[in-house]
Amino acid sequence: MSESRRFIKLVAYLRPYWRDTTLGIIALLIVNGLGAYIPLLIRACIDKFSVNFNYGEIIRYSILIILLSSSMWLMRMASRVWIFGVGRQVEYELKQKIFEHLLQLEPSYFATNTAGDLISRATSDVDNIRRLLGFVVLSFANSIFAFALTLPVMLSINVELTVAALSLYPIMFFVVVLFSERLRNEQTDVQENLSDVSNLIQEDISGISLIKIYAQEQNEHRAFGKQNQKLLKANLKLAKTRNILFPIIGGLVNISSLIIIWIGASRIGSSLDVGDFVALLIYIERLVFPTALLGFTITAYQRGEVSVDRVESIFNVEPKIKDESNAIRISRNEIKGELTAKNLTFAYPDSETLVLDKINFQIFPGETIAIVGAIGSGKSTLANCLPRLLDINEGELFLDGIDITKIALTDLRDAIAYVPQESFLFSTTIQNNIRYGDPLAEQQEVENVAELAQISSEIGTFPQQYNTLVGERGITLSGGQRQRTALARAMLVEAPVLILDDALSSVDNQTATQILKNLSSGTKRKTVVFITHQLSAAAAADRILVMEKGRIVQTGTQIELLQQPGLYRNLWSQHQVEELLH
Ligand SMILES: Nc1ncnc2c1ncn2[C@@H]1O[C@H](COP(=O)(O)OP(=O)(O)OP(=O)(O)O)[C@@H](O)[C@H]1O
Ligand SMILES: [Mg+2]
Repeated sequence: MSESRRFIKLVAYLRPYWRDTTLGIIALLIVNGLGAYIPLLIRACIDKFSVNFNYGEIIRYSILIILLSSSMWLMRMASRVWIFGVGRQVEYELKQKIFEHLLQLEPSYFATNTAGDLISRATSDVDNIRRLLGFVVLSFANSIFAFALTLPVMLSINVELTVAALSLYPIMFFVVVLFSERLRNEQTDVQENLSDVSNLIQEDISGISLIKIYAQEQNEHRAFGKQNQKLLKANLKLAKTRNILFPIIGGLVNISSLIIIWIGASRIGSSLDVGDFVALLIYIERLVFPTALLGFTITAYQRGEVSVDRVESIFNVEPKIKDESNAIRISRNEIKGELTAKNLTFAYPDSETLVLDKINFQIFPGETIAIVGAIGSGKSTLANCLPRLLDINEGELFLDGIDITKIALTDLRDAIAYVPQESFLFSTTIQNNIRYGDPLAEQQEVENVAELAQISSEIGTFPQQYNTLVGERGITLSGGQRQRTALARAMLVEAPVLILDDALSSVDNQTATQILKNLSSGTKRKTVVFITHQLSAAAAADRILVMEKGRIVQTGTQIELLQQPGLYRNLWSQHQVEELLH
Protein backbone atom coordinates (compact mmCIF):
# COMPACT_ATOMS: atom_id res chain seq x y z
CA MET A 1 0.00 0.00 0.00
CA SER A 2 1.38 3.43 -0.86
CA GLU A 3 2.36 5.83 1.94
CA SER A 4 -0.43 8.29 1.18
CA ARG A 5 -3.13 5.61 0.93
CA ARG A 6 -1.98 4.18 4.21
CA PHE A 7 -2.22 7.60 5.81
CA ILE A 8 -5.73 8.04 4.42
CA LYS A 9 -6.63 4.65 5.92
CA LEU A 10 -5.33 5.74 9.32
CA VAL A 11 -7.35 8.94 9.19
CA ALA A 12 -10.37 6.85 8.15
CA TYR A 13 -9.96 4.69 11.28
CA LEU A 14 -10.01 7.85 13.39
CA ARG A 15 -12.85 9.60 11.60
CA PRO A 16 -15.75 8.14 13.58
CA TYR A 17 -14.02 9.28 16.76
CA TRP A 18 -12.99 12.75 15.61
CA ARG A 19 -14.73 14.33 18.63
CA ASP A 20 -12.69 12.48 21.25
CA THR A 21 -9.51 12.84 19.20
CA THR A 22 -10.00 16.62 18.95
CA LEU A 23 -10.83 16.89 22.64
CA GLY A 24 -7.67 14.93 23.47
CA ILE A 25 -5.54 17.17 21.27
CA ILE A 26 -7.04 20.33 22.80
CA ALA A 27 -6.31 18.92 26.27
CA LEU A 28 -2.68 18.39 25.22
CA LEU A 29 -2.52 21.97 23.99
CA ILE A 30 -3.69 23.18 27.41
CA VAL A 31 -1.22 20.84 29.16
CA ASN A 32 1.68 22.23 27.19
CA GLY A 33 0.45 25.82 27.51
CA LEU A 34 0.44 25.40 31.29
CA GLY A 35 3.76 23.59 31.10
CA ALA A 36 5.27 26.63 29.42
CA TYR A 37 3.57 29.09 31.76
CA ILE A 38 4.31 27.56 35.19
CA PRO A 39 8.13 28.00 35.00
CA LEU A 40 7.50 31.65 34.09
CA LEU A 41 5.51 32.00 37.31
CA ILE A 42 8.34 30.40 39.24
CA ARG A 43 10.75 32.79 37.61
CA ALA A 44 8.63 35.79 38.54
CA CYS A 45 8.41 34.46 42.05
CA ILE A 46 12.16 34.07 42.43
CA ASP A 47 12.93 37.43 40.86
CA LYS A 48 10.43 39.20 43.08
CA PHE A 49 11.37 37.57 46.35
CA SER A 50 15.10 37.79 45.90
CA VAL A 51 14.55 41.58 46.04
CA ASN A 52 11.68 41.85 48.49
CA PHE A 53 10.53 38.86 50.57
CA ASN A 54 6.81 38.76 51.36
CA TYR A 55 5.33 35.80 53.20
CA GLY A 56 1.67 36.39 52.20
CA GLU A 57 2.48 36.72 48.52
CA ILE A 58 4.63 33.60 48.51
CA ILE A 59 1.63 31.61 49.74
CA ARG A 60 -0.57 33.12 47.03
CA TYR A 61 2.01 32.20 44.37
CA SER A 62 2.33 28.70 45.77
CA ILE A 63 -1.42 28.14 45.74
CA LEU A 64 -1.62 29.41 42.16
CA ILE A 65 1.23 27.11 41.05
CA ILE A 66 -0.35 24.12 42.82
CA LEU A 67 -3.72 24.86 41.22
CA LEU A 68 -2.22 25.22 37.75
CA SER A 69 -0.09 22.10 38.15
CA SER A 70 -3.12 20.14 39.30
CA SER A 71 -5.15 21.29 36.30
CA MET A 72 -2.24 20.35 34.07
CA TRP A 73 -2.23 16.91 35.67
CA LEU A 74 -5.98 16.57 35.21
CA MET A 75 -5.77 17.67 31.59
CA ARG A 76 -2.95 15.20 30.96
CA MET A 77 -5.14 12.42 32.35
CA ALA A 78 -8.10 13.53 30.28
CA SER A 79 -6.01 13.61 27.10
CA ARG A 80 -4.87 10.04 27.72
CA VAL A 81 -8.38 8.83 28.46
CA TRP A 82 -9.69 10.41 25.25
CA ILE A 83 -6.91 9.49 22.87
CA PHE A 84 -6.12 6.01 24.19
CA GLY A 85 -9.87 5.43 24.38
CA VAL A 86 -10.09 6.11 20.66
CA GLY A 87 -7.34 3.54 20.08
CA ARG A 88 -9.34 0.97 22.05
CA GLN A 89 -12.51 1.79 20.12
CA VAL A 90 -10.71 1.35 16.80
CA GLU A 91 -9.28 -1.95 18.10
CA TYR A 92 -12.79 -3.18 18.93
CA GLU A 93 -14.21 -2.08 15.58
CA LEU A 94 -11.36 -3.64 13.62
CA LYS A 95 -11.73 -6.97 15.39
CA GLN A 96 -15.46 -6.94 14.68
CA LYS A 97 -14.82 -6.10 11.03
CA ILE A 98 -12.13 -8.78 10.60
CA PHE A 99 -14.36 -11.44 12.12
CA GLU A 100 -17.34 -10.40 10.03
CA HIS A 101 -15.24 -10.45 6.89
CA LEU A 102 -13.72 -13.85 7.66
CA LEU A 103 -17.20 -15.28 8.12
CA GLN A 104 -18.04 -14.25 4.56
CA LEU A 105 -15.06 -16.04 3.02
CA GLU A 106 -15.29 -19.54 1.61
CA PRO A 107 -13.71 -22.52 3.41
CA SER A 108 -10.92 -22.81 0.82
CA TYR A 109 -9.53 -19.44 2.02
CA PHE A 110 -8.84 -21.05 5.39
CA ALA A 111 -7.03 -23.93 3.79
CA THR A 112 -4.34 -21.55 2.55
CA ASN A 113 -4.36 -19.07 5.46
CA THR A 114 -3.53 -20.74 8.73
CA ALA A 115 -5.46 -20.05 11.90
CA GLY A 116 -2.21 -18.98 13.60
CA ASP A 117 -1.59 -16.27 11.01
CA LEU A 118 -5.17 -15.00 11.11
CA ILE A 119 -5.14 -14.95 14.91
CA SER A 120 -1.92 -12.97 14.89
CA ARG A 121 -3.42 -10.47 12.44
CA ALA A 122 -6.56 -10.10 14.52
CA THR A 123 -4.61 -9.70 17.76
CA SER A 124 -1.03 -8.40 17.56
CA ASP A 125 -1.50 -6.48 14.32
CA VAL A 126 -4.68 -4.88 15.57
CA ASP A 127 -2.82 -4.15 18.79
CA ASN A 128 -0.08 -2.39 16.81
CA ILE A 129 -2.69 -0.29 15.04
CA ARG A 130 -4.26 0.63 18.38
CA ARG A 131 -0.86 1.67 19.67
CA LEU A 132 -0.09 3.50 16.47
CA LEU A 133 -3.28 5.51 16.73
CA GLY A 134 -3.28 6.12 20.49
CA PHE A 135 0.38 6.47 21.14
CA VAL A 136 1.35 8.22 17.91
CA VAL A 137 -1.45 10.79 17.96
CA LEU A 138 -0.73 11.52 21.60
CA SER A 139 3.02 11.77 21.34
CA PHE A 140 3.11 13.66 18.03
CA ALA A 141 0.64 16.24 19.26
CA ASN A 142 2.36 16.42 22.62
CA SER A 143 5.86 16.82 21.16
CA ILE A 144 4.79 19.42 18.64
CA PHE A 145 2.98 21.49 21.27
CA ALA A 146 5.81 21.09 23.77
CA PHE A 147 8.43 22.40 21.38
CA ALA A 148 6.21 25.03 19.75
CA LEU A 149 5.21 26.54 23.09
CA THR A 150 8.38 26.04 25.14
CA LEU A 151 11.08 26.84 22.63
CA PRO A 152 10.05 30.48 21.92
CA VAL A 153 9.87 31.17 25.67
CA MET A 154 13.31 29.63 26.23
CA LEU A 155 14.79 31.59 23.33
CA SER A 156 13.25 34.80 24.65
CA ILE A 157 14.98 34.18 27.99
CA ASN A 158 18.42 33.43 26.63
CA VAL A 159 19.32 32.34 23.12
CA GLU A 160 22.87 31.25 23.84
CA LEU A 161 21.99 29.02 26.81
CA THR A 162 18.98 27.50 25.06
CA VAL A 163 20.98 26.55 21.98
CA ALA A 164 23.84 25.18 24.06
CA ALA A 165 21.57 23.08 26.29
CA LEU A 166 19.41 21.77 23.47
CA SER A 167 22.40 20.91 21.31
CA LEU A 168 22.37 17.47 22.88
CA TYR A 169 18.72 16.80 22.12
CA PRO A 170 19.14 15.81 18.47
CA ILE A 171 21.68 13.26 19.70
CA MET A 172 19.14 12.00 22.23
CA PHE A 173 16.53 11.75 19.50
CA PHE A 174 18.76 9.71 17.22
CA VAL A 175 19.93 7.48 20.04
CA VAL A 176 16.29 6.69 20.81
CA VAL A 177 15.43 6.05 17.16
CA LEU A 178 18.46 3.78 16.82
CA PHE A 179 17.70 1.90 19.98
CA SER A 180 14.00 1.58 19.36
CA GLU A 181 14.81 -0.02 16.02
CA ARG A 182 16.94 -2.51 17.92
CA LEU A 183 14.30 -2.88 20.62
CA ARG A 184 11.72 -3.60 17.97
CA ASN A 185 13.77 -6.36 16.37
CA GLU A 186 14.57 -7.89 19.72
CA GLN A 187 10.95 -7.68 20.80
CA THR A 188 9.91 -9.50 17.60
CA ASP A 189 12.55 -12.10 18.35
CA VAL A 190 11.17 -12.63 21.85
CA GLN A 191 7.64 -12.94 20.48
CA GLU A 192 8.64 -15.47 17.84
CA ASN A 193 10.54 -17.56 20.37
CA LEU A 194 7.64 -17.36 22.76
CA SER A 195 5.22 -18.59 20.11
CA ASP A 196 7.62 -21.45 19.26
CA VAL A 197 7.66 -22.46 22.93
CA SER A 198 3.86 -22.29 23.14
CA ASN A 199 3.48 -24.31 19.94
CA LEU A 200 5.84 -26.93 21.30
CA ILE A 201 3.92 -27.20 24.56
CA GLN A 202 0.63 -27.41 22.68
CA GLU A 203 1.92 -30.08 20.30
CA ASP A 204 3.46 -32.14 23.10
CA ILE A 205 0.31 -31.99 25.18
CA SER A 206 -1.90 -33.12 22.31
CA GLY A 207 0.59 -35.82 21.35
CA ILE A 208 1.27 -36.95 24.92
CA SER A 209 0.12 -40.53 24.32
CA LEU A 210 2.41 -40.82 21.33
CA ILE A 211 5.37 -39.47 23.34
CA LYS A 212 4.73 -42.09 25.99
CA ILE A 213 4.18 -45.00 23.60
CA TYR A 214 7.46 -44.27 21.85
CA ALA A 215 9.19 -43.40 25.15
CA GLN A 216 10.36 -40.04 23.84
CA GLU A 217 10.09 -38.05 27.10
CA GLN A 218 13.84 -37.44 27.29
CA ASN A 219 14.09 -36.26 23.70
CA GLU A 220 11.07 -33.98 24.00
CA HIS A 221 12.48 -32.60 27.25
CA ARG A 222 15.76 -31.84 25.53
CA ALA A 223 14.06 -30.24 22.52
CA PHE A 224 11.98 -28.09 24.86
CA GLY A 225 15.09 -27.11 26.84
CA LYS A 226 16.75 -25.92 23.64
CA GLN A 227 13.77 -23.81 22.64
CA ASN A 228 13.36 -22.43 26.14
CA GLN A 229 17.05 -21.49 26.19
CA LYS A 230 16.55 -19.53 22.96
CA LEU A 231 13.69 -17.65 24.57
CA LEU A 232 15.82 -16.87 27.62
CA LYS A 233 18.62 -15.50 25.43
CA ALA A 234 16.21 -13.32 23.46
CA ASN A 235 14.68 -11.99 26.69
CA LEU A 236 18.08 -11.20 28.21
CA LYS A 237 19.14 -9.39 25.05
CA LEU A 238 16.02 -7.26 25.14
CA ALA A 239 16.50 -6.47 28.82
CA LYS A 240 20.11 -5.46 28.15
CA THR A 241 19.17 -3.03 25.39
CA ARG A 242 16.47 -1.52 27.57
CA ASN A 243 18.84 -1.18 30.48
CA ILE A 244 21.43 0.56 28.35
CA LEU A 245 19.04 3.02 26.69
CA PHE A 246 17.44 4.62 29.73
CA PRO A 247 20.71 5.51 31.54
CA ILE A 248 21.98 7.03 28.27
CA ILE A 249 18.92 9.28 28.09
CA GLY A 250 19.33 10.17 31.77
CA GLY A 251 23.01 10.93 31.19
CA LEU A 252 22.28 13.21 28.24
CA VAL A 253 19.71 15.13 30.30
CA ASN A 254 22.22 15.56 33.09
CA ILE A 255 24.84 16.82 30.68
CA SER A 256 22.32 19.37 29.32
CA SER A 257 21.63 20.57 32.87
CA LEU A 258 25.36 20.75 33.53
CA ILE A 259 25.83 22.90 30.42
CA ILE A 260 23.18 25.32 31.70
CA ILE A 261 24.72 25.38 35.16
CA TRP A 262 28.20 25.77 33.78
CA ILE A 263 27.47 28.53 31.25
CA GLY A 264 24.58 30.00 33.23
CA ALA A 265 26.45 30.35 36.53
CA SER A 266 28.99 32.65 34.96
CA ARG A 267 26.21 34.76 33.41
CA ILE A 268 24.15 35.17 36.59
CA GLY A 269 24.22 38.73 37.67
CA SER A 270 25.26 40.05 34.25
CA SER A 271 23.00 38.89 31.39
CA LEU A 272 20.94 36.37 33.40
CA ASP A 273 18.73 36.58 36.50
CA VAL A 274 18.42 33.71 38.98
CA GLY A 275 14.76 33.35 37.94
CA ASP A 276 15.72 32.93 34.27
CA PHE A 277 18.29 30.36 35.23
CA VAL A 278 15.84 28.24 37.24
CA ALA A 279 13.15 28.54 34.53
CA LEU A 280 15.59 27.31 31.87
CA LEU A 281 16.56 24.32 34.02
CA ILE A 282 12.88 23.38 34.37
CA TYR A 283 12.25 23.80 30.62
CA ILE A 284 15.18 21.61 29.71
CA GLU A 285 13.78 18.83 31.87
CA ARG A 286 10.33 19.34 30.39
CA LEU A 287 11.56 18.69 26.84
CA VAL A 288 13.22 15.34 27.63
CA PHE A 289 10.03 13.32 27.56
CA PRO A 290 8.62 14.68 24.28
CA THR A 291 12.00 14.21 22.57
CA ALA A 292 12.46 10.61 23.68
CA LEU A 293 8.82 9.82 22.98
CA LEU A 294 9.12 11.19 19.46
CA GLY A 295 11.94 8.72 18.84
CA PHE A 296 9.84 5.80 20.06
CA THR A 297 6.86 7.06 18.10
CA ILE A 298 8.67 6.81 14.80
CA THR A 299 9.29 3.11 15.40
CA ALA A 300 5.73 2.56 16.59
CA TYR A 301 4.57 4.24 13.40
CA GLN A 302 6.65 1.98 11.18
CA ARG A 303 5.46 -1.10 13.00
CA GLY A 304 1.88 0.10 12.81
CA GLU A 305 2.23 0.64 9.06
CA VAL A 306 3.19 -2.98 8.49
CA SER A 307 0.21 -4.01 10.58
CA VAL A 308 -2.15 -1.75 8.65
CA ASP A 309 -1.05 -3.54 5.48
CA ARG A 310 -1.47 -6.96 7.05
CA VAL A 311 -4.95 -6.20 8.36
CA GLU A 312 -6.08 -4.42 5.21
CA SER A 313 -4.95 -7.37 3.10
CA ILE A 314 -7.65 -9.44 4.83
CA PHE A 315 -10.30 -6.90 3.84
CA ASN A 316 -9.01 -6.88 0.28
CA VAL A 317 -9.88 -10.55 -0.18
CA GLU A 318 -13.22 -10.58 -1.93
CA PRO A 319 -15.45 -13.58 -1.15
CA LYS A 320 -15.37 -15.76 -4.28
CA ILE A 321 -18.70 -17.37 -3.50
CA LYS A 322 -21.31 -14.70 -3.05
CA ASP A 323 -24.79 -13.72 -4.16
CA GLU A 324 -25.27 -12.03 -7.47
CA SER A 325 -27.27 -8.83 -7.32
CA ASN A 326 -30.35 -10.55 -8.75
CA ALA A 327 -30.03 -13.78 -6.77
CA ILE A 328 -33.14 -15.97 -6.83
CA ARG A 329 -34.91 -16.30 -3.47
CA ILE A 330 -36.32 -19.73 -2.67
CA SER A 331 -38.18 -21.03 0.33
CA ARG A 332 -37.25 -24.36 1.82
CA ASN A 333 -40.91 -25.36 2.15
CA GLU A 334 -41.47 -25.06 -1.57
CA ILE A 335 -38.37 -26.93 -2.67
CA LYS A 336 -39.03 -30.49 -3.78
CA GLY A 337 -35.41 -31.57 -3.63
CA GLU A 338 -34.52 -32.53 -7.19
CA LEU A 339 -30.80 -32.38 -7.91
CA THR A 340 -29.36 -32.35 -11.42
CA ALA A 341 -25.75 -32.19 -12.61
CA LYS A 342 -24.93 -31.35 -16.22
CA ASN A 343 -21.30 -31.90 -17.10
CA LEU A 344 -20.27 -30.77 -13.63
CA THR A 345 -16.53 -30.20 -13.74
CA PHE A 346 -14.30 -28.99 -10.96
CA ALA A 347 -10.59 -28.51 -10.26
CA TYR A 348 -9.17 -27.07 -7.04
CA PRO A 349 -7.51 -23.67 -7.45
CA ASP A 350 -3.85 -23.85 -8.55
CA SER A 351 -4.31 -27.40 -9.77
CA GLU A 352 -4.78 -28.77 -13.25
CA THR A 353 -6.29 -32.09 -12.21
CA LEU A 354 -10.01 -32.37 -12.73
CA VAL A 355 -11.36 -33.73 -9.44
CA LEU A 356 -14.85 -33.83 -10.93
CA ASP A 357 -14.84 -34.64 -14.62
CA LYS A 358 -18.09 -34.03 -16.55
CA ILE A 359 -20.44 -35.49 -13.98
CA ASN A 360 -24.05 -36.03 -14.97
CA PHE A 361 -26.91 -37.24 -12.80
CA GLN A 362 -30.48 -36.59 -11.94
CA ILE A 363 -31.68 -37.27 -8.41
CA PHE A 364 -35.46 -37.19 -7.98
CA PRO A 365 -37.31 -35.60 -5.06
CA GLY A 366 -37.47 -37.94 -2.07
CA GLU A 367 -34.94 -40.38 -3.50
CA THR A 368 -32.22 -41.89 -1.32
CA ILE A 369 -28.97 -42.04 -3.25
CA ALA A 370 -25.75 -43.65 -2.13
CA ILE A 371 -22.44 -42.55 -3.60
CA VAL A 372 -19.64 -45.06 -3.36
CA GLY A 373 -16.14 -45.17 -4.77
CA ALA A 374 -12.48 -45.52 -3.89
CA ILE A 375 -10.74 -43.03 -1.59
CA GLY A 376 -9.86 -39.81 -3.38
CA SER A 377 -12.37 -40.38 -6.18
CA GLY A 378 -14.02 -36.97 -5.58
CA LYS A 379 -17.02 -37.88 -3.42
CA SER A 380 -16.47 -35.19 -0.75
CA THR A 381 -15.71 -32.66 -3.45
CA LEU A 382 -19.06 -33.41 -5.08
CA ALA A 383 -20.80 -33.12 -1.69
CA ASN A 384 -19.17 -29.72 -1.10
CA CYS A 385 -20.38 -28.50 -4.50
CA LEU A 386 -24.05 -29.03 -3.67
CA PRO A 387 -24.37 -26.35 -0.94
CA ARG A 388 -21.83 -24.30 -2.93
CA LEU A 389 -18.99 -24.50 -0.46
CA LEU A 390 -16.78 -24.68 -3.55
CA ASP A 391 -16.70 -22.17 -6.35
CA ILE A 392 -18.38 -24.06 -9.19
CA ASN A 393 -19.18 -22.92 -12.73
CA GLU A 394 -22.64 -21.70 -13.49
CA GLY A 395 -25.03 -23.88 -15.46
CA GLU A 396 -23.72 -27.20 -14.18
CA LEU A 397 -25.64 -27.93 -11.00
CA PHE A 398 -29.36 -27.42 -10.44
CA LEU A 399 -31.76 -27.64 -7.49
CA ASP A 400 -35.38 -28.10 -8.65
CA GLY A 401 -34.19 -26.99 -12.08
CA ILE A 402 -32.71 -23.71 -10.81
CA ASP A 403 -29.00 -23.12 -11.37
CA ILE A 404 -27.61 -23.17 -7.82
CA THR A 405 -25.12 -20.41 -8.57
CA LYS A 406 -28.13 -18.13 -9.12
CA ILE A 407 -29.85 -19.01 -5.84
CA ALA A 408 -29.32 -16.75 -2.82
CA LEU A 409 -26.68 -18.50 -0.69
CA THR A 410 -28.60 -18.39 2.59
CA ASP A 411 -31.67 -19.88 0.88
CA LEU A 412 -29.65 -22.58 -0.85
CA ARG A 413 -27.96 -23.62 2.38
CA ASP A 414 -31.25 -23.43 4.19
CA ALA A 415 -32.61 -26.03 1.77
CA ILE A 416 -29.64 -28.37 2.08
CA ALA A 417 -28.61 -29.95 5.37
CA TYR A 418 -25.09 -31.33 5.28
CA VAL A 419 -23.06 -33.53 7.59
CA PRO A 420 -19.43 -33.23 6.50
CA GLN A 421 -16.90 -36.04 6.66
CA GLU A 422 -15.25 -34.59 9.76
CA SER A 423 -18.05 -33.70 12.11
CA PHE A 424 -17.33 -30.65 14.20
CA LEU A 425 -18.93 -30.04 17.58
CA PHE A 426 -18.77 -26.76 19.46
CA SER A 427 -17.66 -26.59 23.11
CA THR A 428 -21.17 -26.24 24.42
CA THR A 429 -23.96 -28.56 25.56
CA ILE A 430 -25.17 -31.48 23.44
CA GLN A 431 -28.52 -29.74 23.22
CA ASN A 432 -27.01 -26.55 21.80
CA ASN A 433 -24.92 -28.57 19.38
CA ILE A 434 -27.99 -30.35 18.06
CA ARG A 435 -30.06 -27.22 17.69
CA TYR A 436 -27.23 -25.19 16.18
CA GLY A 437 -29.16 -24.66 12.94
CA ASP A 438 -32.33 -23.69 14.78
CA PRO A 439 -31.44 -22.27 18.20
CA LEU A 440 -35.08 -21.88 19.19
CA ALA A 441 -36.01 -25.53 18.68
CA GLU A 442 -37.98 -27.10 21.53
CA GLN A 443 -36.46 -29.75 23.78
CA GLN A 444 -38.96 -32.27 22.37
CA GLU A 445 -37.78 -31.70 18.79
CA VAL A 446 -34.17 -32.12 19.89
CA GLU A 447 -35.05 -35.42 21.56
CA ASN A 448 -36.93 -36.63 18.48
CA VAL A 449 -34.01 -36.13 16.12
CA ALA A 450 -31.63 -37.66 18.68
CA GLU A 451 -33.91 -40.69 18.64
CA LEU A 452 -33.84 -40.86 14.83
CA ALA A 453 -30.05 -40.53 14.82
CA GLN A 454 -29.85 -43.42 17.35
CA ILE A 455 -27.98 -41.36 19.92
CA SER A 456 -30.72 -40.65 22.48
CA SER A 457 -30.13 -43.71 24.66
CA GLU A 458 -26.44 -42.83 25.00
CA ILE A 459 -27.26 -39.21 25.83
CA GLY A 460 -29.44 -40.61 28.61
CA THR A 461 -26.34 -42.07 30.26
CA PHE A 462 -24.37 -38.79 30.19
CA PRO A 463 -24.00 -36.93 33.54
CA GLN A 464 -26.35 -34.09 32.65
CA GLN A 465 -28.08 -35.72 29.70
CA TYR A 466 -28.82 -33.08 27.04
CA ASN A 467 -27.11 -30.38 29.10
CA THR A 468 -23.78 -32.21 29.20
CA LEU A 469 -20.94 -30.06 27.96
CA VAL A 470 -18.97 -31.40 25.00
CA GLY A 471 -15.30 -30.82 24.29
CA GLU A 472 -12.47 -29.36 26.32
CA ARG A 473 -14.60 -28.31 29.26
CA GLY A 474 -16.87 -31.33 29.22
CA ILE A 475 -17.02 -34.95 28.24
CA THR A 476 -15.21 -36.40 25.27
CA LEU A 477 -17.52 -38.14 22.85
CA SER A 478 -16.45 -41.21 20.93
CA GLY A 479 -16.09 -40.91 17.16
CA GLY A 480 -19.44 -42.62 16.58
CA GLN A 481 -21.22 -40.46 19.16
CA ARG A 482 -19.85 -37.32 17.55
CA GLN A 483 -21.05 -38.48 14.15
CA ARG A 484 -24.56 -39.24 15.36
CA THR A 485 -24.77 -35.90 17.23
CA ALA A 486 -23.77 -34.12 14.02
CA LEU A 487 -26.36 -36.15 12.16
CA ALA A 488 -29.08 -35.19 14.65
CA ARG A 489 -28.08 -31.55 14.12
CA ALA A 490 -28.59 -31.89 10.37
CA MET A 491 -31.89 -33.72 10.82
CA LEU A 492 -33.31 -31.03 13.07
CA VAL A 493 -33.43 -28.45 10.29
CA GLU A 494 -36.32 -29.41 8.08
CA ALA A 495 -34.30 -29.25 4.88
CA PRO A 496 -35.65 -30.99 1.77
CA VAL A 497 -32.14 -32.22 0.87
CA LEU A 498 -29.83 -34.03 3.28
CA ILE A 499 -26.22 -34.84 2.42
CA LEU A 500 -24.22 -37.22 4.57
CA ASP A 501 -20.52 -37.48 3.75
CA ASP A 502 -19.30 -40.71 5.26
CA ALA A 503 -21.24 -39.53 8.28
CA LEU A 504 -21.81 -43.01 9.65
CA SER A 505 -18.34 -44.45 9.20
CA SER A 506 -17.79 -44.91 12.95
CA VAL A 507 -21.20 -46.47 13.42
CA ASP A 508 -21.71 -50.22 13.05
CA ASN A 509 -23.46 -51.46 9.92
CA GLN A 510 -26.66 -52.40 11.69
CA THR A 511 -27.12 -49.00 13.35
CA ALA A 512 -26.15 -47.25 10.13
CA THR A 513 -28.81 -49.18 8.20
CA GLN A 514 -31.39 -48.42 10.88
CA ILE A 515 -30.56 -44.69 10.74
CA LEU A 516 -30.92 -44.69 6.97
CA LYS A 517 -34.28 -46.40 7.29
CA ASN A 518 -35.35 -43.71 9.79
CA LEU A 519 -34.30 -41.05 7.32
CA SER A 520 -36.41 -42.32 4.48
CA SER A 521 -39.42 -43.29 6.57
CA GLY A 522 -40.70 -39.83 7.61
CA THR A 523 -43.99 -38.43 6.38
CA LYS A 524 -42.23 -35.74 4.39
CA ARG A 525 -39.58 -37.55 2.42
CA LYS A 526 -36.26 -35.80 2.04
CA THR A 527 -33.87 -36.30 -0.82
CA VAL A 528 -30.94 -38.04 0.85
CA VAL A 529 -27.49 -38.24 -0.68
CA PHE A 530 -25.20 -40.34 1.40
CA ILE A 531 -21.59 -41.04 0.68
CA THR A 532 -20.28 -44.20 2.21
CA HIS A 533 -17.64 -46.88 2.21
CA GLN A 534 -20.09 -49.31 3.87
CA LEU A 535 -21.57 -51.12 0.90
CA SER A 536 -24.11 -52.96 3.02
CA ALA A 537 -25.56 -49.65 4.15
CA ALA A 538 -25.51 -48.39 0.56
CA ALA A 539 -27.62 -51.40 -0.42
CA ALA A 540 -30.59 -49.80 1.31
CA ALA A 541 -30.52 -46.83 -1.09
CA ASP A 542 -32.96 -46.44 -4.00
CA ARG A 543 -30.01 -46.04 -6.37
CA ILE A 544 -26.24 -46.13 -6.11
CA LEU A 545 -23.81 -43.87 -8.00
CA VAL A 546 -20.33 -45.34 -8.35
CA MET A 547 -17.47 -42.87 -8.68
CA GLU A 548 -13.99 -43.42 -10.02
CA LYS A 549 -11.37 -40.71 -10.59
CA GLY A 550 -13.88 -37.87 -10.71
CA ARG A 551 -16.38 -39.62 -12.95
CA ILE A 552 -19.59 -41.48 -12.35
CA VAL A 553 -18.87 -44.85 -13.89
CA GLN A 554 -21.98 -46.79 -12.90
CA THR A 555 -25.51 -46.02 -11.75
CA GLY A 556 -28.30 -48.34 -10.65
CA THR A 557 -29.88 -50.25 -7.83
CA GLN A 558 -27.78 -52.66 -5.84
CA ILE A 559 -29.22 -55.62 -7.75
CA GLU A 560 -28.68 -54.04 -11.16
CA LEU A 561 -25.11 -53.18 -10.29
CA LEU A 562 -24.34 -56.65 -9.03
CA GLN A 563 -25.60 -58.14 -12.27
CA GLN A 564 -23.11 -56.28 -14.43
CA PRO A 565 -19.33 -56.58 -14.35
CA GLY A 566 -17.57 -53.42 -13.19
CA LEU A 567 -16.22 -51.44 -10.30
CA TYR A 568 -19.22 -51.98 -8.04
CA ARG A 569 -19.04 -55.74 -8.28
CA ASN A 570 -15.30 -55.64 -7.50
CA LEU A 571 -15.90 -53.39 -4.51
CA TRP A 572 -18.71 -55.66 -3.35
CA SER A 573 -16.64 -58.84 -3.44
CA GLN A 574 -13.87 -57.01 -1.58
CA HIS A 575 -16.48 -55.91 0.96
CA GLN A 576 -17.78 -59.44 1.39
CA VAL A 577 -14.29 -60.68 2.17
CA GLU A 578 -13.83 -57.88 4.72
CA GLU A 579 -17.16 -58.71 6.35
CA LEU A 580 -16.13 -62.36 6.65
CA LEU A 581 -12.82 -61.40 8.23
CA HIS A 582 -14.49 -59.23 10.85
N1 LIG B 1 -8.84 -28.52 -0.65
C1 LIG B 1 -8.26 -29.25 -1.59
N2 LIG B 1 -7.31 -28.71 -2.37
C2 LIG B 1 -6.72 -29.43 -3.33
N3 LIG B 1 -7.01 -30.70 -3.60
C3 LIG B 1 -7.94 -31.31 -2.86
C4 LIG B 1 -8.61 -30.62 -1.81
N4 LIG B 1 -9.49 -31.47 -1.23
C5 LIG B 1 -9.36 -32.64 -1.90
N5 LIG B 1 -8.44 -32.54 -2.87
C6 LIG B 1 -8.06 -33.61 -3.82
O1 LIG B 1 -9.20 -33.96 -4.57
C7 LIG B 1 -9.27 -35.36 -4.77
C8 LIG B 1 -10.63 -35.87 -4.33
O2 LIG B 1 -10.77 -35.64 -2.93
P1 LIG B 1 -12.10 -35.97 -2.15
O3 LIG B 1 -11.92 -35.50 -0.75
O4 LIG B 1 -13.24 -35.40 -2.91
O5 LIG B 1 -12.12 -37.56 -2.21
P2 LIG B 1 -13.14 -38.57 -1.53
O6 LIG B 1 -13.71 -39.38 -2.63
O7 LIG B 1 -14.08 -37.87 -0.64
O8 LIG B 1 -12.15 -39.48 -0.68
P3 LIG B 1 -12.45 -40.23 0.73
O9 LIG B 1 -13.19 -41.46 0.38
O10 LIG B 1 -11.10 -40.55 1.26
O11 LIG B 1 -13.21 -39.31 1.59
C9 LIG B 1 -8.12 -35.96 -4.00
O12 LIG B 1 -7.12 -36.28 -4.93
C10 LIG B 1 -7.65 -34.88 -3.08
O13 LIG B 1 -6.27 -34.93 -2.94
MG1 LIG C 1 -14.28 -37.78 1.34
